[in-house]
Amino acid sequence: MDRSGIFEGDDPFAIARAWLTEAEAQEPNDPNAIALATVDPQGMPNVRMVLLKEIEDDAFVFYTNYGSAKGQEIAASGKAAFVLHWKSLRRQIRVRGSVTREDGPKADAYFASRSLKSRLGAWASRQSEPLSSREALLAEAARVAVTKGPNPPRPPFWGGFRITPVEIEFWADGAFRLHDRFRWRRIDQGSAWDITRLNP
Ligand SMILES: Cc1cc2nc3c(=O)[nH]c(=O)nc-3n(C[C@H](O)[C@H](O)[C@H](O)COP(=O)(O)O)c2cc1C
Repeated sequence: MDRSGIFEGDDPFAIARAWLTEAEAQEPNDPNAIALATVDPQGMPNVRMVLLKEIEDDAFVFYTNYGSAKGQEIAASGKAAFVLHWKSLRRQIRVRGSVTREDGPKADAYFASRSLKSRLGAWASRQSEPLSSREALLAEAARVAVTKGPNPPRPPFWGGFRITPVEIEFWADGAFRLHDRFRWRRIDQGSAWDITRLNP
């Protein structure tokens, strides 16, 4: 297949890492921001931005509140999709896959790496539930600062999700809208991929 340059190699995670590294040098804000899509039990789609925190050997990891809308939707469906789009690079990566929790030592370590205010914020926010006022949130943050102290543990309702892709697509802008698209599709849920060039 005529695949070279920025699409070089057969490991889609290596390509994703390389593209993200390039984006980190160019994007002024949050080059790791992804639009994360889920569906509710009625099949109604939902989408919001989250930060991609790690590209592992075979999966993508982000962190959130398990009780949030996205957390509940993922718990019910076990699936999610996301897109990474870099305006300055004119590239996107699309991912679809199954989702499991990352709520072990890795989540503990990531939580511990966050600023104290962020850690307390995670304790204070019942993400996606109604909130009577900003003052109520600030009061809750002040309360947990006292009850949890200067070294709060990771809340049991907060942690990571790991998306293991069944499909990854790389898209790069081409002249006259003749863009390049390559799709990696997992073969029979194994570790091998079918790689296909797609029409733009
Ligand atoms: C650039 C950006 C990054 C964000 N990163 C996260 C994140 O990593 N985790 C998270 O829970 N929410 C993050 N948010 C907030 C979410 O978009 C969303 O408002 C929140 O998670 C609640 O979504 P839900 O009600 O669909 O669960 C981010 C928002 C923006 C704009």
